[in-house]
Amino acid sequence: MKSAIWIVDFGSQYTQLITRKFRELGFTSEIMTLEDALLKIKNEKPKAIVLSGGPQSVFEDQSDYSPFFQDEKLPVLGVCYGMQILGQYFNGKVEKGIQGEYGLAELHLENGFKIANAPSKFNVWMSHSDHVSVVPKDFSVIMRSENGLIAGIKHQNKPILGLQFHPEVHHTNHGKDILQYFLKDVANLSSDWTNQKMLDSCSEQARSIKGEKVLCAFSGGVDSLVAATLVEKIIGQDLYCFFVDNGLLRPQDINTIKMLQEKTTLNIEIIDASEIFLNNLKDAKDPEDKRKIIGKTFIEVFEQKVHEFENTRGIKFSYLLQGTLYPDVIESISPHKKGGKSVTIKSHHNVGGLPERMKLKLLEPLRFLFKDEVRVMGLELGLKHDWVFRHPFPGPGIGVRVLGQLSRDSIRKVQESDQILFEELKAHNLYDSTWQAFTVLLPVKTVGVKGDGRVYEEVIALRMVDSQDGMTASVTELPWSFLNKVSSRVCNEVKGVTRVVYDITSKPPGTIEWE
Ligand code: XMP
Repeated sequence: MKSAIWIVDFGSQYTQLITRKFRELGFTSEIMTLEDALLKIKNEKPKAIVLSGGPQSVFEDQSDYSPFFQDEKLPVLGVCYGMQILGQYFNGKVEKGIQGEYGLAELHLENGFKIANAPSKFNVWMSHSDHVSVVPKDFSVIMRSENGLIAGIKHQNKPILGLQFHPEVHHTNHGKDILQYFLKDVANLSSDWTNQKMLDSCSEQARSIKGEKVLCAFSGGVDSLVAATLVEKIIGQDLYCFFVDNGLLRPQDINTIKMLQEKTTLNIEIIDASEIFLNNLKDAKDPEDKRKIIGKTFIEVFEQKVHEFENTRGIKFSYLLQGTLYPDVIESISPHKKGGKSVTIKSHHNVGGLPERMKLKLLEPLRFLFKDEVRVMGLELGLKHDWVFRHPFPGPGIGVRVLGQLSRDSIRKVQESDQILFEELKAHNLYDSTWQAFTVLLPVKTVGVKGDGRVYEEVIALRMVDSQDGMTASVTELPWSFLNKVSSRVCNEVKGVTRVVYDITSKPPGTIEWE
């Protein structure tokens, strides 16, 4: 998204949170690399610049930052590494950290400095090793951490602010007040981000491709539903939503799709491919093998259906609509992040690979939104609360919720237990109290007693977690009476299950799904 507030990304894992917090305050911003910012500033006039945090050290940095400081009126905020750039550039002193500060630190406002709504002492999130030890000429120290290190500096007559800590991080108390102080008091900017603006900018690309046929890999989840609804409002029946039934769905998933077919004007085509998926999976035991087979089969089924549409109905698709969100986009534009090779924990199943194979161009209307904004947009578009606040459901579905080898009977056990869990969450009014909830079939047999007889049957694990984005998660604490009810219903109603356990592992170290 184009914006006149530029966030120069030095590779901090928190950079996108600055954009997110700015938006919550009503301001758009644009994340860009240092190279792009230095190039663009030759011809464009930003309204403010944020120099983000990053893992490197100013002692190894040879970059010339002078273009950012030529216009004396241009507001600049330096966060963490960004503050050290300010310290170095304005001839203060930056010292190499020996110990560094990581985690929560108490912040003290200094020299009569005040921030609206914040007290004079509060906790902030620090994550640095180097630090500014001598404040540059014409700057004042406005904050220190409890151990006396300089935590905030401000230029006496220019709109320049430096913060050693991360105001964008959830753990920093009054972080939003501090960012608001920069945007409103230091930079004197007026807000520009509204729901209407969000809708307009997301509609732009779709408006430019009117008349083209667009295909959507539709899952019924919030991202694809909002993306499809938005695009359908613009291009109407030229949008085709394909939903692949892979036989690994819960009853609620198929019900949702049928309900959406009935209650919306979306053109949804259900492709029943369960036989093909289950057949391809019949010998697979290893989680990664299962994930790869499911991903590959999905692409094959999808491709075949597209050819069928082309051959029998003469419909030639030129775009693939995807519900890609901002965090995925940022991950792929930052050169600092691209360089580091991370370990594959799980091969995520998505439609990646489809566009190239089928020579489709990408339509990604939500690529600048965060998940919570997608939900707001869904409501703006008139979608029902329940539809846009659905829990996430992974592409491989029950395929990764039956541990090890799959069979129709094991899939049934997860389907039935999941349905019970879901019904009870709704009945106890707890659906919105947890971020994601599901059941997993453990392939171990345990002894139990049903009626008067001994049974030797399997175990269902319940998993309910709180999370913001699925990256980390904690276990949802739910009332005992609810857990008891689910346990009793599962043991009584699901044939072949005698024991129910509650998974109390956070992520990390556990992942949310078991496979
Ligand atoms: P994990 O198990 O990696 O899950 O902690 C994090 C979140 O991602 C979902 N998940 C997936 N979503 N395709 C998806 O679309 C996948 O292959 C996949 N695997 C996990 C998971 O349900 C949780 O919300």
